[in-house]
Amino acid sequence: AISFYISRHGESMYNLEGKIGGNSNLSPQGISFAQKLQGVIETIQTASFLNYPKLQWKQLDELSSGSCDGLTYEEIEQRYPEDFMERDLDKFNYRYRGGESYRDLVHRLEPVILELERHKEEDPIYIIGHQAVVRAIYAYFHGISHEELPYIKIPLHTIIKLTPKAYHCLEERIVVDV
Ligand code: F6P
Repeated sequence: AISFYISRHGESMYNLEGKIGGNSNLSPQGISFAQKLQGVIETIQTASFLNYPKLQWKQLDELSSGSCDGLTYEEIEQRYPEDFMERDLDKFNYRYRGGESYRDLVHRLEPVILELERHKEEDPIYIIGHQAVVRAIYAYFHGISHEELPYIKIPLHTIIKLTPKAYHCLEERIVVDV
């Protein structure tokens, strides 16, 4: 079977400040992860990974948190207490005001998953995404339920190698020392 790799982006300033969403700059540790990636990838896959083409897919954008973008969870709780509760009750279906739900994200990612399923060539694929995006892809290949999906812990600076088999999916993790 064909393996592929997924990880979150390097730690961002928003991650450090506890703010959600956004496309903020990387933190020093996040930059260190980005700088070490080439070396790590060469170690795990040798030459086939070099000079790889890079694609930026809009479909891989982070779950849009709409009007909550850039806020901390505390600020969301103060401004939109009902939303905060609603999300807690059904995190998969909760849709941010002017944004998306995990269910929306799963639909948006269908073409990406099809692409991964179809991929039969030798060239390995490495997807770098935001936390919610990595959760959704990971859940699909491991058959994790919609209820559990939004709570999957995807650590920073960790490359996850997935190898789908007929009825399960093999997994290895490579932790990058930043
Ligand atoms: O904190 C990083 C982050 O990727 C945010 O951008 C995103 O909104 C959040 O994680 C998703 O976490 P949760 O859905 O658990 O609030």
